[in-house]
Amino acid sequence: MLLTGTEQKLDPQDIIVSKTDLKGRIIYANDIFLDIAGYNLREILDKPHNVIRHPLMPRCVFQLLWERLQFGNEIFAYVVNSTKAEDYYWVLAHVTPSMDSKGNVTSYHSNRRAPSGAAIAAITPIYEALVAEEKSHKNAKEGQKAGYRLLMKTLEEKGVSYDEFVLSL
Ligand SMILES: Cc1cc2nc3c(=O)[nH]c(=O)nc-3n(C[C@H](O)[C@H](O)[C@H](O)COP(=O)(O)O)c2cc1C
Repeated sequence: MLLTGTEQKLDPQDIIVSKTDLKGRIIYANDIFLDIAGYNLREILDKPHNVIRHPLMPRCVFQLLWERLQFGNEIFAYVVNSTKAEDYYWVLAHVTPSMDSKGNVTSYHSNRRAPSGAAIAAITPIYEALVAEEKSHKNAKEGQKAGYRLLMKTLEEKGVSYDEFVLSL
């Protein structure tokens, strides 16, 4: 599941930044992004952001991300990404829409920092359960919907909203 199984850790002071166009294609990445992900800028510019997608990430978390962004809202999310060498690294991402002076969304922006070990330990089994639920359906769309329902049920059982949960970890 964890590709090479080797974790790359961000320094606590590091902030990984990338920006995408409205379709999620990378239009900017800072040096810290390139460093940890193992790409040079030429290799990833104009590529879809799923170039660093890791199989441990549930589809339903990205569904939530895109729903939030398309309605002009921000989202915080724990994300495990894959490097070019297929190592993995965890981040707490803050993803926001950028707007022009008329309020039209023109691009998206993500800033990420290193999460605490305790937060990673808390989110990992939840993501594993979501991925298992998603994979138990033959049809990927159905799997994503089922994962989304399980995410909402998990939050309901905890008595918190998605934002409250993520920011409490
Ligand atoms: C600004 C921005 C940053 C993103 N950052 C990541 C990221 O770090 N890792 C990731 O897997 N997906 C990221 N995504 C989501 C991807 O666009 C994509 O939805 C996700 O990787 C799932 O891809 P898939 O549906 O092809 O599996 C980001 C999207 C936006 C708009």
